[in-house]
Amino acid sequence: MIIESDFLNLDTTYQGVDIDALRDFAAKRLPENFDKLRTQLLRGEFYNATEDRHVSHCLNRSIHNVVTAGNGKNRFCTIVRELRAGKWLGATGKPIKDVVNIGVGGSDLGPMMGSFALKEFADDNSLHHLSVHFVSSMDGGQLYAVLPIVDPETTLFIIASKSFGTIDTLANVDTVRKWIEPTLNQEQWLSRHVIGVSANNQAMTDFGIPPAQQLSFAESVGGRFSLWSAIGLPIALTVGSNQFGRMLEGAKAMDDHFANEPLEQNIPLQMALLGVYNREVREINNLAVLPYDGRLRYLPSYLQQLDMESNGKQVDFEGNAIDYPTGPIIWGGFGPNGQHAFFQHLHQGYDKFCADFVAVLKRAAPDFEPAVQEGLAEQQRLAVANCLAHRRLMWFGAENGEARNHYIGNHPSNLLFVDELTPQSFGALIAAYEHKVFTQGVIWNLNSFDQPGVEKGKKLAKEVLQVLDGNSATEFDASTDDLVRRVRR
Ligand code: F6P
Repeated sequence: MIIESDFLNLDTTYQGVDIDALRDFAAKRLPENFDKLRTQLLRGEFYNATEDRHVSHCLNRSIHNVVTAGNGKNRFCTIVRELRAGKWLGATGKPIKDVVNIGVGGSDLGPMMGSFALKEFADDNSLHHLSVHFVSSMDGGQLYAVLPIVDPETTLFIIASKSFGTIDTLANVDTVRKWIEPTLNQEQWLSRHVIGVSANNQAMTDFGIPPAQQLSFAESVGGRFSLWSAIGLPIALTVGSNQFGRMLEGAKAMDDHFANEPLEQNIPLQMALLGVYNREVREINNLAVLPYDGRLRYLPSYLQQLDMESNGKQVDFEGNAIDYPTGPIIWGGFGPNGQHAFFQHLHQGYDKFCADFVAVLKRAAPDFEPAVQEGLAEQQRLAVANCLAHRRLMWFGAENGEARNHYIGNHPSNLLFVDELTPQSFGALIAAYEHKVFTQGVIWNLNSFDQPGVEKGKKLAKEVLQVLDGNSATEFDASTDDLVRRVRR
């Protein structure tokens, strides 16, 4: 069955669950107050009890709200305009050429995915060329690669952190401060080369970021739901505020679709129910995300955080232990390259999985000569053909009589597809996944908006670091103690 919406379509045929069966399943699994909870989510009124705050990312689906969020004084569009036009000068009078986004998790994955996916939609209101880079890893691995190719005098750093306290981000920022020192003093650096994006205004001020360079967003916007807020600045710098606004428009259209369409026509609702069906009835514990358009290559990592940080839980909304399976393991990769890497296992391995194929049916390439345009259009058809073929093989399987050529099939999949990738269709795609995750959290009666497991890991890492730094004599277990000794030697 194909469901169409303004910007996104879903084919559920290869899930093998017909609409009557899905209706029955919905009647059993969707709680009676689902409509009320959905309305609360879309109005920013859903309550995240463990963190004692509301959930408000759906209020960020318009550029007006991004500009007036947090402290109400965001110079989002002005900053975007000046940087993109080459009018933002560094402390020594040279225009900024490179922007480095330092952030991790939601402060990295969404902005990086969006900037990469939408690059070609840049509103080119100037000839100034701005390169946007991403640094997230606490080991400094990405700084090794970025610092040698940028110049302190022409580089601006976005410090993106909802909490402004994440050690990974602060460690990268500390190293950057050391790197700029021979060229700029701290005052020069802070005055022209840093923009802070956070829900913690006080921390940005304490850090020394001038108020005009602080972009805030509401505490009630979860990190993994924050690409619609000022955290999306790298996307806006890549494509311009207007196109960023179109991405928000696409997400808003999906919010309306989710709110108003009946089950038979509701994309996120069906994605959620089919996902729960696969998890509970078919006992499939993982979902492979397989985009067939290179521009969406970061989608699997983004969805890993969105889904697994939200619904990988063993405690229900009331704080009781859960004894049923919750969110699946999300994994995947760019489909066409996956075909030459892990698809063999998908077609003939023994493990159960389900998949989301994501396809873009057409791609215009107006900037190229006609012959090249035709070549690229043929390549897009080639990718779509492969997407359709592999999805068929995974569902129907094949058998030619020889045991060694047996393809078992029966692996259910969705096909999410758009006619063309645009900022709107991209926004709608991401919002559809957000609503799927929300609906599944409601069905499993868990809080999709906290992340206690991650917090616990952070606490343990601090204890280990104390020992590595020689500030504590805590002992752990034979393996960890041995490794600590090796590092300290
Ligand atoms: O991984 C835990 C987490 O809190 C994520 O939820 C969040 O996106 C990430 O760390 C980064 O947090 P912050 O934006 O506060 O630096």
